[in-house]
Amino acid sequence: MSNPELSNLLHETRRFDPPAELAEHANLKADAYAEAKEDRLAFWAKQAERITWAEPFTEVLDWSNPPFSKWYVGGKLNAAYNCLDRHVEAGLGDRVAYHFEAENGDRRDITYAELLAEVCQAANGLTELGVKTGDRVAIYMPMIPETVVAMLACARIGAPHTVIFAGFSAQSIEDRVKDCGVEVVITADGANRRGKPSALKPTVDEAVAKCPTVRKVVVVKRTGQDVAWNDDLDVWWSDVVDHQSTEHTCEFFDAEHPLYIMYSSGTTGKPKGVLHTTGGYMVGVSYTHWAVFDLKPDTDVFWTAADIGWVTGHSYIVYGPLANATTSVFYEGTPDTPHQGRWWEIVAKYKVNILYCAPTAIRTFMKWGREIPEKFDLSSLRLIGSVGEPINPEAYMWYREVIGGNRCPVVDTWWQTENGMILISPLPGVTSGKPGSAMTPLPGVTAAVYDESGKPVEPGGAGYLVVTEPWPAMLRTLWGDDDRFKETYWARFPGVYFSGDGAKLDEDGDFWLLGRVDDVMNVSGHRMSTTEIESALVSHPMVAEAAVVGAADATTGQSIEAFVILRESAKGGGDDLVAELRNHVAKEIGAIAKPRSIMVVPDLPKTRSGKIMRRLLKDVAENREPGDSTTLADSSVMDLIQENLSKQSTDEG
Ligand code: PRX
Repeated sequence: MSNPELSNLLHETRRFDPPAELAEHANLKADAYAEAKEDRLAFWAKQAERITWAEPFTEVLDWSNPPFSKWYVGGKLNAAYNCLDRHVEAGLGDRVAYHFEAENGDRRDITYAELLAEVCQAANGLTELGVKTGDRVAIYMPMIPETVVAMLACARIGAPHTVIFAGFSAQSIEDRVKDCGVEVVITADGANRRGKPSALKPTVDEAVAKCPTVRKVVVVKRTGQDVAWNDDLDVWWSDVVDHQSTEHTCEFFDAEHPLYIMYSSGTTGKPKGVLHTTGGYMVGVSYTHWAVFDLKPDTDVFWTAADIGWVTGHSYIVYGPLANATTSVFYEGTPDTPHQGRWWEIVAKYKVNILYCAPTAIRTFMKWGREIPEKFDLSSLRLIGSVGEPINPEAYMWYREVIGGNRCPVVDTWWQTENGMILISPLPGVTSGKPGSAMTPLPGVTAAVYDESGKPVEPGGAGYLVVTEPWPAMLRTLWGDDDRFKETYWARFPGVYFSGDGAKLDEDGDFWLLGRVDDVMNVSGHRMSTTEIESALVSHPMVAEAAVVGAADATTGQSIEAFVILRESAKGGGDDLVAELRNHVAKEIGAIAKPRSIMVVPDLPKTRSGKIMRRLLKDVAENREPGDSTTLADSSVMDLIQENLSKQSTDEG
């Protein structure tokens, strides 16, 4: 739970009150806290009115069999209907749902009526392919409109989707597809990235060759590059979808019908299939999107600059904003192509009012210099948000000043894939923000910081962040693994949800997030498991043993640093070997998991029971004198490692 800035954080005295005008017209006012506290479930029943139910629910929460929750029991709804049809029926068909902008400048405005028509066609197409309610569909796609269409078409027919971030490897696709028994994969021939088309389909081909459950691979033509074709398996999206009717009568599903599975890294090698269901999730994302971003759907242009392959994209590019009839920007591309002002150009072009992104991006922009955003008119912005990692006060202040023009409140939102929705965040019209603090649980959410023994700490104390009562968008289980669900989240402190994050309460009782307390790293806002990367390394024939740590990094939050012991046969491998191992990890998991450095060491620091003391390796990776090593089985190991590393750096020098 180390945080180099902790001592500074605790002396943070700056406060930023909500702008008067925003406070006056805020969607959610201060009384919501008291209202939710007085009757939490009545509060959640009220929020459920944001959603259109085909059949009303009879009970808000069934918690009779914890930790398995059922929300809005007996209610029936369709997520896609809530995102599209009802808005079109209400006369909003001509409203733009997405200003889609591609990296290369291609653009398209998609209205709610158009999106509905395309989703209906895709739903008809998937049905024609034999996809039925309950079947799983994997989506491995670039950031293009068809990705949203595919997700909503799945939701419409009740086929849970699992979106796999398009940077993941064939092995990662295979693991996910096998874990949840995917029948149809939707992908594209390629993606445009940094001015070049990159391939996607070969990665899917390699994966599905080993996945007998997959019956069809539907391929969107995006880049037009040549792709290998398997007539038994592959079909073009255009052949499946384009000739279909633009009408589709949707079925209404039980509130607990599975909506999607999102795989997330945990402390063991195998990613976890986090399951979200329909009713509670839709209520949760609609409520939080409206409350935290103070969303005014008739006038606001909203932009979550994240990838749909992660939960932030699911909740705040797709389901939340669409449920709220929002106009969003949807951007395919990187922040520095074709130039480092790309994001700000987009903000100015679409007069974006609300921007939501990760601290890593902010720190990168800081590095590039304020002159770049200063060239653009950012005066449309009225609220800016942060997600995915702790935001350090320096980045918060830069974001507030340079991007937010000192007038926009910053909402630092804490949540996780498992949570489905934002749980801890300032309310922009109510909370006086503190740079670096996510402030307080939202109305309806109850969180606490526990000490080692499971007692809530008092203001001023630090410990483990827990959520003490169920919330509507909470994960329902891990796909096919109820035991792991119980063990991972509900066993550390019986009866409450264990987040895996450390946190501190300040004297006012506000929350400061301190990072993970387990073997999970956070690299550029992406969750990475040290164990998963270690397994990838030892699967290489030249590696005998591996240990991975996350070292503090000024831009990416953490960086992946690996220590490996080579097999006898591989000794003397040199730089080529290190490059090979980095590529091996990219092949096993995906390029985002490549260690920044791989240090070859003669041994690893272990306790007498054989547990690797990553803490000591972290000291080495962060260039500190290693801490207390008295519990090591062999105390000379750290000296050996240090000697070896200085030798390696002399060799390199
Ligand atoms: O450590 C916390 C960090 O990101 C983790 C969740 O990662 P993931 O499931 O990928 O979801 C990311 C986007 C919702 C958390 O356990 N985290 C997320 N938001 C914050 C944060 N840490 C500090 N402050 C935040 N605002």
